[in-house]
Amino acid sequence: MHKIYSNGIHAVKGLSLEVEQGEVFGLLGPNGAGKTTTMNMMIGLLKPTKGKITIFGKSIMNNGKEIKQKIGVAPQEFSFYSHLTVYENAKLFATLYDVKNCERRIDELFNLFELDEIRHQRSDQLSGGQKRRLNLTLALLHDPDLLILDEPAAGMDPQSRAVLWSSVKSLVRSENKTIVLATHLMEVADKLSDRIVIIDHGKDLVIDAPEELKRKFGHGETIQIHVKGDLASDEFSLIKAKVKEIWPDVKNSNHSLQIHTDDAIDDLSKLLELLKQHDLKQKIADISLRSETLEDVFIKLTGRKLRE
Ligand SMILES: Nc1ncnc2c1ncn2[C@@H]1O[C@H](COP(=O)(O)OP(=O)(O)OP(=O)(O)O)[C@@H](O)[C@H]1O
Ligand SMILES: [Mg+2]
Repeated sequence: MHKIYSNGIHAVKGLSLEVEQGEVFGLLGPNGAGKTTTMNMMIGLLKPTKGKITIFGKSIMNNGKEIKQKIGVAPQEFSFYSHLTVYENAKLFATLYDVKNCERRIDELFNLFELDEIRHQRSDQLSGGQKRRLNLTLALLHDPDLLILDEPAAGMDPQSRAVLWSSVKSLVRSENKTIVLATHLMEVADKLSDRIVIIDHGKDLVIDAPEELKRKFGHGETIQIHVKGDLASDEFSLIKAKVKEIWPDVKNSNHSLQIHTDDAIDDLSKLLELLKQHDLKQKIADISLRSETLEDVFIKLTGRKLRE
């Protein structure tokens, strides 16, 4: 599908994807990649300039009312009323959606997203993470089959994120929901999604499970050698030269050398041997090993970092 806005911006350029029922599908891409535009087309809020969207086998444009009842949306911009309390917002949305047994559903979701203690607080006085959790609650009140989450973890601290991870998993498991989420945060996409599409400039670059993407596009692991000082100075020329002899592809930044490896144990022992042999140990601050991330996959595909 394509979307060209009236100002001429071609925000979505031939994106094509299929989401399976019961999966968590992540749209990962940098700011301005076209994630929100894509989601707004999926929920029938925006009309594609070209292309078509079917949800549960039906066109969203021709069956809007019927399909929309099965979709819950937690938009990037908050959709609740700021002067109402958490509970009043939930009650209002439940009434609008005609939710049966609404008190029970509200309690259930307040419990899931840990909003019970702040149910009588005004919504504009909540923290960023609490607002996100209220946003999610409102999207789920009418028990939709398909949940659309735009930047669900924005503004959340690690503890709120943990609540998000576990609640999303439990929604998929116990309520069999399908979830589509958009984010520019690779950790969110990685932790939550069964499959991911990486989007850049309105195009899909690749679609697969996060583990598969890291396996296909990653390099195994990276050994990072942090030195005690500026790598550009003469003090470190020997260490740079010796490492380069064994690993010609070694990369370096101001204070560290990075070696990509498919056999970390073997390469680590070679490295330690080399440091010992040339008496270089005292120049090293620390050595660490890190697995490939989706950020590495993105860099591989685009030559840029996700956050640029
Ligand atoms: N209503 C609009 N009218 C015109 N251009 C728009 C509109 N909304 C978005 N755009 C443009 O379309 C492009 C894609 O925007 P979109 O909001 O879909 O990106 P995004 O991937 O959701 O980014 P973010 O991570 O910042 O939320 C951007 O260049 C943006 O400036
Ligand atoms: Mg967006």
